[in-house]
Amino acid sequence: MKSLFDYAQSCLQTYDIEQKLILTHAAWHAWQCDALSYTDTQPIADIHFTQFPARPILLPPKQMPKRNLNSAQGVASLFHALAHIEFIAIYLAWDMLYRFRGLPKQFYQDWLKVADEEAQHFALIREHLRDLGMEYGDLPAHQGLWEHAQNTADNLLARLAIVPRCMEARGLDVTPLMIEKFNARGDAKSVAILTRILQDEVGHVAIGSYWFNTLCLEQNLAPEPTYQQLLQQFYKGKPKGPFNREMRIIAGFSTAELTWLETYAHTSNF
Ligand SMILES: [Fe+2]
Ligand SMILES: [Fe+2]
Repeated sequence: MKSLFDYAQSCLQTYDIEQKLILTHAAWHAWQCDALSYTDTQPIADIHFTQFPARPILLPPKQMPKRNLNSAQGVASLFHALAHIEFIAIYLAWDMLYRFRGLPKQFYQDWLKVADEEAQHFALIREHLRDLGMEYGDLPAHQGLWEHAQNTADNLLARLAIVPRCMEARGLDVTPLMIEKFNARGDAKSVAILTRILQDEVGHVAIGSYWFNTLCLEQNLAPEPTYQQLLQQFYKGKPKGPFNREMRIIAGFSTAELTWLETYAHTSNF
């Protein structure tokens, strides 16, 4: 029987975009047919072996060009940035299940489903981008997203705190505002794509919260102070608000965590 980790390694170590999408959907299909083992047989490759396509060129956030949604070019460049976020999200989901072993079957199933949904999100946005006259890779993209994975490669609780419960959770704050803007412009297609993605992302953050809380309790750690400590240790800078309390609560944040985040985001020296 083929192993889930073989698929994971192939997906992480191919720079070929089409191959990555095909393998991701094939793995989720095989898992649903009970045709994939999750036995830990091969050693785990170092995170530096992860391969990315030659394009887009990756730049530090400060060098990213500014976007203006009042021009067609600005809208296309926003969707290019979103395509990149979804593309890296495929890697992040795969790496979550590849790098951390010996966990319950449900852990692997949850993150494989996330990888499959991220591949769908990427494909949806890339198609939209093509309709707008642009191909993924035509513009430079944000270099920082994968750094969070590199910094937490040997710490599962930190990975869960930073990737689903910080980066993906940020999507819950900003996407409703983007949807409102496209609604006001009468751009129904952009609204439909972003609404679909937002629904899935609530689920991804909820999966992150579930595993973060479950694994903390298993290790006799109190989840809320552990989250605070990991954020301060592993997240460069501070998470930005305003936070979407309603959606974050659906996605497994506690009101105490949100109150702490709001205070933390506004203090200069914590
Ligand atoms: Fe996504
Ligand atoms: Fe996601």
